[in-house]
Amino acid sequence: MIMLIANDKRIKMQTFCPFPIHARIKDTCSRKEKSMEEKELRLDKFLADMGKGTRSRLKEDIRKGRILVNGEVVKNADKKIRIPEDVVLFDGTPVSYVTMEYFMLNKPRGVLSATEDKRRPTVLDLIDQKRRKDLFPVGRLDADTEGLLLITNDGALAHRLLAPKSHVDKVYFARCAGRVPASAVSSFAEGLLLPDGLKCLPAVLKILSVTETGKTETGKTENGEAETEVLLTIREGKFHQVKRMMEAVGCPVLFLKRLAMGPLTLDESLRPGEYRPLTKQELELLKQL
Ligand code: URA
Repeated sequence: MIMLIANDKRIKMQTFCPFPIHARIKDTCSRKEKSMEEKELRLDKFLADMGKGTRSRLKEDIRKGRILVNGEVVKNADKKIRIPEDVVLFDGTPVSYVTMEYFMLNKPRGVLSATEDKRRPTVLDLIDQKRRKDLFPVGRLDADTEGLLLITNDGALAHRLLAPKSHVDKVYFARCAGRVPASAVSSFAEGLLLPDGLKCLPAVLKILSVTETGKTETGKTENGEAETEVLLTIREGKFHQVKRMMEAVGCPVLFLKRLAMGPLTLDESLRPGEYRPLTKQELELLKQL
C-alpha cells in the first residue's frame, strides 16, 4: 500500500545543477578498494575518516598524546592501525572504524541533493547519525521533489545504481495539472519523444485518479479544471526527466515523490526529513544488482 501525501499548493520549479557524480564515484571506488584490501590505515586518516577532525588538527592531537592504541600513547600520525584488531582511544573514548554506511532518507522538499551548499541545507545535514565524512546521495532529486534517496559512501554500489547502462527502475508518484490523456500510457510505453528531441526509454505510466478541481458548491464542474495522480516507472535518470515527460503530454507536475529505486522501496514509516540505516535484507538485495 503506497501512502501518498497530498499538497494543494502548486510547487515552484527549481533550477537544477547536477554535480559530476561519475568522476567522483570512480575516484572513490578505486581508493576504497585499495583501503579495504589493506585493512590498515594511518592513524590520522583513521580518525579523520571517523569525523574526528581535519588531518592537520588530528596530527596536533596525536602529538599531544591524546590517542592511545592498544593501551599505549602513540605520537606518530603515520602509525598503521589494523582494522578491526587495534583498539583506538581518543581522550579515553573508543573510536571504532566503519568502512561503509548506508542510509535510506525520505528527502523533504527544500533540501538539496548535494554534499554541501553555502546557502541551503543539504541531504547530508539531515543525517546526524553519520560516522563517516565521505557520504554522498546516490543520484539527485530536485529540491522540490520528496522521497527515497540512498545516502552512502559506497561508490561501487552508486555506480551500479546510476550507470546509464544499468537501467535501474525508478518509481515516482506525481500529481499533475490537467487530465493526463489515456493515450499517454502507450506513448510512454513506446518511448516518448520530448519536444527537445530526447527519445525516452520505454516507461510505465499508471493513471491512479483524476480530480475535478473547478467544482462549484453545487458539485458541478465550472471550468473543466482537473488534476491527475499517476505512478511513473522510468529506467533512466535524465535531468528533470519526470517533469519533462509529464509536461510533454500537457500535464505539468505539481508534486513529485520517488517511491522506489531498484530493489529499494521507501519505508512508509519515514516522514519527510527522517532516515534510517538500511536493513541487512536491503543490503543483500543491493549486492545482487
Ligand atoms: N524527475 C524529475 O523531474 N525530478 C526529480 O527530482 C526526479 C526525477
